[in-house]
Amino acid sequence: MANIVLFGAPGAGKGTLAGKITKFSPVVHISTGDLFRANIKNGTPIGNEAKSFIDAGKLVPDSVVIGMVKNRIDQDDVKEKGFMLDGFPRTLEQAKSLDEVASLDVVVVLDIAKEDLKNRILGRRTCPKCKKIYNIYNDELKPKKEGYCDTCKDTLLTQRSDDNEETFEKRWNTYLSQSESVINYYSAREGLVANVDGRRTMSYTEEELRSLLKM
Ligand code: AP5
Ligand code: MG
Repeated sequence: MANIVLFGAPGAGKGTLAGKITKFSPVVHISTGDLFRANIKNGTPIGNEAKSFIDAGKLVPDSVVIGMVKNRIDQDDVKEKGFMLDGFPRTLEQAKSLDEVASLDVVVVLDIAKEDLKNRILGRRTCPKCKKIYNIYNDELKPKKEGYCDTCKDTLLTQRSDDNEETFEKRWNTYLSQSESVINYYSAREGLVANVDGRRTMSYTEEELRSLLKM
């Protein structure tokens, strides 16, 4: 069992990597973005509150996110198998709150520059059923049949409402304003932070992460 945090900019590859790792590890993938999107789809109070922030490329308030993550971490599957957190923590306050409920084994920081992210954001497509993430501009990551999920066959892929140039700019600026404080917080603990080059191909990055996690 391991408790892992995947940290990185919008489009850095957190969700894709978590999807790969959880194929061969029982660790539970918890994506705060996915939890919000599910809540929005189901019209829950959390979803209703989160939607305007997500569409504006801003962070959902800590008061909402922290409770949601603490609830998820408190469930039996996570207690038994550990977690791979994707997209949390993103603020110093969130990082401190996570320390109250869990001890971390590794914080993986995916390094990537802004100019490498645009095609990832604009080319991302997702299967609404199995949640697999594709990229139409990347040979390794594009679907075999254009527009459709490889696994769920006749299911049409969808595009996220925040995956446009304007919202990406805002998400990037939000990331810049918060990331340093979180990285500094974890870097103060020797041996906790591991940097992974997020600019390489997905298979290279996956190998690097697997060897780092010894999985
Ligand atoms: P969230 O859904 O977490 O979005 P994000 O952080 O912007 O990250 P992404 O999901 O866009 O990127 P990713 O790193 O997962 O990349 P992916 O693997 O998909 O959050 C959405 C919103 O919810 C936030 O803006 C905020 O409003 C709110 N929120 C969430 N968490 C919150 C929190 N803790 N506090 C407050 N608010 C919160 O890959 C991207 C694309 O690139 C894909 O097409 C993929 O195929 C491709 N790709 C991946 N790896 C590679 C590679 N190595 N080479 C080439 N292409 C690649
Ligand atoms: Mg993601």
